[in-house]
Amino acid sequence: MTKTLSIIVASIKGGVGKTTVAVNLAVTLSIAGYKTLLYEMDTVNPGVGYHLGKLDEESHVQTYKPTGLQYVSAHVSESYDAPDAERASQLESEIKKGDYDFVIVDTQSADKSLLKKHFDSGLIIINPDEQSCAAGIMAKDLIESSGAKCNIMLNMGFEKPYALSDKEIEEMFGTPIMARAEEDLSLRKSLLEHVPNILTENAPKFSAQISKLARVYAAMIDEDYAQKFENFSRELGRAKSEIKKLQQ
Ligand SMILES: Nc1ncnc2c1ncn2[C@@H]1O[C@H](COP(=O)(O)OP(=O)(O)OP(=O)(O)O)[C@@H](O)[C@H]1O
Ligand SMILES: [Mg+2]
Repeated sequence: MTKTLSIIVASIKGGVGKTTVAVNLAVTLSIAGYKTLLYEMDTVNPGVGYHLGKLDEESHVQTYKPTGLQYVSAHVSESYDAPDAERASQLESEIKKGDYDFVIVDTQSADKSLLKKHFDSGLIIINPDEQSCAAGIMAKDLIESSGAKCNIMLNMGFEKPYALSDKEIEEMFGTPIMARAEEDLSLRKSLLEHVPNILTENAPKFSAQISKLARVYAAMIDEDYAQKFENFSRELGRAKSEIKKLQQ
């Protein structure tokens, strides 16, 4: 492992699952033993604090104790339209420092300028409908304009009558779907409890898709990644019991 792999989680459409995926992916990579920073760039509708149970949002690097994940959550910005230039440069310097294996960036759907900056990889979150796919393609084009490659994750809505098929989506994007998470009611529970889904009991479906993604990213930077994941169940159990202790 030589440098930080930065992953921007994006779509031009709101509510598709960006924050949920970004948080759970970052938590999963930290459980696997990778030094990971989750950076929240959404100052319009910040959601990282809801997942991590830290509602007093701060703009500096904090530690999520149960897994050792480092994160920077966002304050709600008073101005809607100005993308936060200072925050973007802070993010850039965290990536450049090279202290982390992974930097995962959670984005705001209207902030197109951020997507044009260089990240190593883009993770486009889509629901299986025309509008969200169009928004995903726009995000993909913006991210790839800097030379990065994007992967796509299909999230919720398969049962809807208008759902596009995997084949239709893969043809639209010109790339295979990397993970596919169906509608999972345990997500609602984890938000209410302020515990990331991967760390709740009885949440196997969403977690399985996130683990799959985490392994793909780990393989990009670490040829021994399979070894790192050997102790994953034990570390996951340890993190869950940390949460129980904190809840008492
Ligand atoms: N697979 C899923 N099954 C059920 N609910 C889900 C799933 N993925 C996300 N959700 C729920 O959908 C809502 C929107 O998710 P999330 O906040 O992650 O989207 P977002 O793209 O970050 O939205 P925004 O654009 O507002 O930042 C949340 O209530 C979340 O719990
Ligand atoms: Mg969000």
